Amino acid sequence: MPLRQRQEVQEVPRGKPLNPASGSLPNGRPRFFSLEGVDGSGKSTQLALLATALRAQGREVVTVREPGGTPVSDAIRKLLLDPANPIAPAAELLLFSAARAQLVEQVIAPALAEGKIVLADRFGWSTLAYQGYGRGLDERRIRELFAIACGDVWPKHSFLLDLPVAAIAGRLQAGDRSADRMESAGAGFFERVQAGYRAIAMQHPERFTVIDAALPQDSVHSAILTSLGPLLAGG
Ligand SMILES: Nc1ncnc2c1ncn2[C@@H]1O[C@H](COP(=O)(O)OP(=O)(O)OP(=O)(O)O)[C@@H](O)[C@H]1O
Ligand SMILES: [Mg+2]
Repeated sequence: MPLRQRQEVQEVPRGKPLNPASGSLPNGRPRFFSLEGVDGSGKSTQLALLATALRAQGREVVTVREPGGTPVSDAIRKLLLDPANPIAPAAELLLFSAARAQLVEQVIAPALAEGKIVLADRFGWSTLAYQGYGRGLDERRIRELFAIACGDVWPKHSFLLDLPVAAIAGRLQAGDRSADRMESAGAGFFERVQAGYRAIAMQHPERFTVIDAALPQDSVHSAILTSLGPLLAGG
């Protein structure tokens, strides 16, 4: 993209306070849960531990990772995470939403219809945190895309793995991999995303359990299992 156009698309108001309490959300499917949090907060680690623990209890569990999980969604994931691709914030939002729509249609909705538990490594809350708080896109528009992409398929409950931004770099370096396009966005971006997640969780206390992700993996795992128990018993 020519430089002039690129600058134009980046001139989106940043850091605008959002009000995630506004607008409607689906009630949430009783067996659908997501793990949310900044890069390196331990979502994938905890998702694997949680899936193993639930399967050991004899439950049927389907795990998904956003963006991705279907051939189309995986192709979009490659586009989104490739550091060589400059992507306008609005295009980023639409691509994440398109990947999610395909995942809901092909994987999540059918699994829930079969009575399986679905555990998602990120879902729509990440879009509100990253593209809303992080990129400064309008929350109302983002919610309209949730309705288009997800219909009534939304997590009953989400676990926010709350990790200070200062700890992100160490975690990602420990993982010994190069930064993807989202991870290269810079500390200021992650500060906004982190603050956004905390604001979202505070405004939807019935939808979130906030967990200190700086604790050892076993402690984080126990905290998630403990809060999930009653939620599953009720559903
Ligand atoms: N509680 C923990 N304490 C210390 N290190 C951890 C903890 N949980 C995960 N890690 C390590 O931090 C790194 C990032 O963890 P993980 O990949 O699970 O995070 P993530 O949230 O899935 O990241 P991403 O958003 O980039 O996919 C890994 O090297 C992992 O082993
Ligand atoms: Mg991960």
